[in-house]
Amino acid sequence: MLNSLDHNMNRILITGGAGFIGSALSRYIIGERKDEILIVDKLTYAGNLESLKSISNDKRYKFEKADICDKKAIEDIFVDYKPNIVMHLAAESHVDRSIDSPSDFINTNIIGTYTLLESFRKLYFNLSEEERATKRHIFHHVSTDEVYGDLDDDISLFTEDTKYSPSSPYSASKASSDHIVRAWNRTFKVPIVVTNCSNNYGPYHFPEKLIPLIILSALNGKDLPIYGAGDQIRDWLYVDDHARALYKVAVDGRVGETYNIGGHNEKKNIDVVHKICEILDEIKKRVDGKSYKEQIIFVKDRPGHDRRYAIDASKIHKELNWLPEETFETGILKTIEWYLANKDSWCKNILDGSYKLERLGI
Ligand SMILES: NC(=O)c1ccc[n+]([C@@H]2O[C@H](COP(=O)([O-])OP(=O)(O)OC[C@H]3O[C@@H](n4cnc5c(N)ncnc54)[C@H](O)[C@@H]3O)[C@@H](O)[C@H]2O)c1
Repeated sequence: MLNSLDHNMNRILITGGAGFIGSALSRYIIGERKDEILIVDKLTYAGNLESLKSISNDKRYKFEKADICDKKAIEDIFVDYKPNIVMHLAAESHVDRSIDSPSDFINTNIIGTYTLLESFRKLYFNLSEEERATKRHIFHHVSTDEVYGDLDDDISLFTEDTKYSPSSPYSASKASSDHIVRAWNRTFKVPIVVTNCSNNYGPYHFPEKLIPLIILSALNGKDLPIYGAGDQIRDWLYVDDHARALYKVAVDGRVGETYNIGGHNEKKNIDVVHKICEILDEIKKRVDGKSYKEQIIFVKDRPGHDRRYAIDASKIHKELNWLPEETFETGILKTIEWYLANKDSWCKNILDGSYKLERLGI
């Protein structure tokens, strides 16, 4: 069994810690907090140990390769590590892939969440009353604003009370897991918190998602595909702001509650792409001197594409004093600079795998 370094610090089990948001969260905790972490990750195409290189020699960091659907492996990990906080991020996360092949989404996002919850329930109810009373124990389920579905006007915001109405196999699987987590709290009194967050962007983002896809395709001289007319609106949050929010909720959020997390940065997809082109035109000119906007093409829209998402994040602001630090302008510049600096290292290694910036989910 692993020994805790300090009884006042948390032992945090992070699932999906080799992914985009999980690695940002892990770098934040090791870099700026005192807690120990154990990452549990299956290392699918989306998980990459290179994203954890900067913290991998820290003695508060541990990594275990496992599938969250593997009941025996997960139970053993819980018995060995005895986390007091579980931050559950492991998921199949790409909407286009969920249209091509929903089964991985059903397994990982629903069955995987159930498997983790059951292991946590066992661990929690095997603790003595004193252990439960003297140390915070919590299962933090990390989810998305896509569970709320489409906003059909330009002014409404998703609140924690908005009715669920998921549109894609991805959002339906996340909605399902959110309900399971809340039911385990209501029925079994398992201590949980849920967060529903808007679209993230930033460094180490797998390049099938809009922002890294556009940056890398632009630099590689490829087409910049815009789905439909590009008028879908998303509320963009810089990933390090999300990591800080997640930590606050895990450590201080009220048990049983849900917190919406958003960036106060609503943008149309087409405007995001134009902004990326304009920044690249300034800091990394095309050799022919033309604008990267010349590479934009309009392609058939994604089936079931939601038009607008926007978050009311006032609850987490009021209760936990969280606000995003980055505006879209500062965050997107940092992101582009990171992809330029890591084009021939992290990005090259990622693109040497099976994914080649092609269109999925048609
Ligand atoms: N990216 C966003 O904009 C966004 C916004 C809101 C919420 N979320 C949620 O945040 C979480 C993390 O998202 P992300 O963008 O970092 O995802 P990601 O796809 O980048 O990473 C997912 C990670 O989970 C791991 N994983 C997948 N299946 C697994 C399994 N069966 N067992 C163990 N590990 C497995 C992968 O290897 C990968 O490291 C997800 O739950 C997602 O629904 C994402």
